[in-house]
Parts: sequence; C-alpha cells; structure tokens
Amino acid sequence: MEENILVAVAWPYANGSIHLGQVAGCYLPADIFARFHRMKGNNVLMVSGSDSHGTPVTLTADNENVSPEEIATRYHDEFLDNWGRLGIEFDLFTSTRTANHEKVVHDIFLRLINQGCISKHEMRQPFCEIDNRFLADRYVEGICPHCNFNGARGDQCDGCGNTLDPKDLVEIKHKDCASTPIFRDTEHFFLKLSAFEKDLIDWASEKSHWKPNVKNFTLGFLEGGLIDRAITRDITWGIPIPLEGFEDKRIYVWFEAVIGYLSASIEWASQTNNPDQWEDYWKKDSKPYYFMGKDNIPFHTVIWPAMLMGYGSLNLPHDVPANEY
Ligand code: MF3
Ligand code: ZN
Repeated sequence: MEENILVAVAWPYANGSIHLGQVAGCYLPADIFARFHRMKGNNVLMVSGSDSHGTPVTLTADNENVSPEEIATRYHDEFLDNWGRLGIEFDLFTSTRTANHEKVVHDIFLRLINQGCISKHEMRQPFCEIDNRFLADRYVEGICPHCNFNGARGDQCDGCGNTLDPKDLVEIKHKDCASTPIFRDTEHFFLKLSAFEKDLIDWASEKSHWKPNVKNFTLGFLEGGLIDRAITRDITWGIPIPLEGFEDKRIYVWFEAVIGYLSASIEWASQTNNPDQWEDYWKKDSKPYYFMGKDNIPFHTVIWPAMLMGYGSLNLPHDVPANEY
C-alpha cells in the first residue's frame, strides 16, 4: 500500500540569502527524503515558501531604506533561483504573501476564536513617545537580566540564548532613536496554549521514533509549563486581523507562517485537476514530516500542534526531524 508523505520544510525568512547551513541541515535532507519516498512509490507532497512578514523583513528594509515588499520579493526570487540551481524540487514553493494564505490564516484564526482557543486582553508593550508608536520586540534592546550581555533584544538574548520579554530588559532603549520607551496598554489576541499542555505532553511522550534532541527539548519545554502567547502585534507589515477595530494590528508572523504548510498544500492542489487532493495529506491517513533547524522546534512540536488540535480534523506532525545545527 502506498503511503501519503507530506514533506513540510521550514519557510526561510525572505530577508537574506540562504546559507550553507540551511541547505545542509534542512533543504537537502528534505529533498533526499522526498526522493526516497517517491522512488518507493509513495505519494509525496513537498511544500515550503518564503516567510515574508514580521520584523525580520521590516528591519532589513529599514536598514536598506527600501520597502518590505521589495525585500520580500528580492529574496523570494533568489530562493526560487537557488532551488533550481541546487536541484531541490518542491512541489510548491510559495510565499506567505498570497491571497490564498491570508484566507486560510483567517479561517484558522476565526475558528480558534469560536472554539475558545484564542482570547483577547490587554498587555503592556514598549511605546516610543518620539516616534509615537508601539515597538515590536526586535526594535528594543537593553542589558540581559540573565547574563548582563549589552545588546539583548526584546525577544531573545544572543549572549546566552534565553528568550526574553521587553519588560525583562535592563536599561531598555528604542533601537532606532535610542530613547527610553514607556510602557502602554494595548489589546491583543492570545493563543491559550496552557489549555493544551496535557494533551501535548500525552501526544509527544508517545513519539518513540522522534530524534532524542527533538523529543527531549519538547518534553522539557512542555514540562516547564505553557503560558498563553500573544499572536497579534502592533505593526503594519503582515496579515490583517479579520475583525473590526484592529486595523492598526497584524497577526504575529510565527502564528501565520506555520499555517503556510496547510495553505501551500491547498494552493498546490488547486493547481492540479483535483483541488481536494490536499486532504490526502491533511485529513486521510498520512505521515507529515517537518524539516527545520533546532531554533524552530517549539513552533512545530508545541505551537503548531496546539493550533491543529484546537482547529480539529487535520493531521498532527508525524515526525519533526530537526537538525541540531
Ligand atoms: N522563518 C523561520 C526561520 O527562518 C522559519 C519559519 S518555519 C514556518 O527561522 F513554517 F513556520 F514558517
Ligand atoms: Zn543573556
């Protein structure tokens, strides 16, 4: 019996060139794996695309004094050229800027609200009074409270690797104007990850075929306790929130990028003579494999599975063969 194998490959940020580590650790292994399964006679769907939103792209655009569109388009075209010359054959390599992706993201966002998996409340965020705007995590810098590294960002410290919240930073500064931001209340949507903690632990514990690095990291992450995560941001580059009154906010890049695996499968099927064919990989008996580097593990073994559990009726990852490099 042939199997349905989904080869879901991490979406590179469209803000810089692909480097050798990404090819060796992620794209080449995925391509070899897909070829192996095609040779075995299995049905294979290999999808990915450019991760085109969020502050990684706007920061690069700011540095070069061009629009985020220009950066996203430049690197998307470069990636397509790279795959062609490297012989890496996706069934579809799309981007998060398509109308189809936005439609699928809105469907998931609204369904998760209806299912009670997304809630809305106020949070305190850094706000620059000089530029009169809220500052995304990567736009603030300061001293890391864990290791004293000077230059830690609002989301993470490159000195010690700890994830941070802007309010943890000592001597917080707005990266662009070096002023000290104030903290102001702003309303956001939160994915209720805490509600999935037990189901996720049960699900991941059974995965005896996962690589030890992936399984240990995931169980450690889950056992540390899950907190609800903001999935919208005060930025203007990204997917709009499909509800009135949130025109100045966008959906958080990680929340929508992981949905790309599904939206790309739907886009691929719509271009074949059987537009329902994506269901073979998402609703029928199938094995979805997710290829990526280690920094992406929690998004694929915790957050994306929680979103899929909340949405219902779609297959969870079978394996997440993440590379440690
Ligand atoms: N853009 C992310 C990175 O380069 C990976 C996103 S994978 C996704 O680290 F599928 F979630 F988009
Ligand atoms: Zn640190």
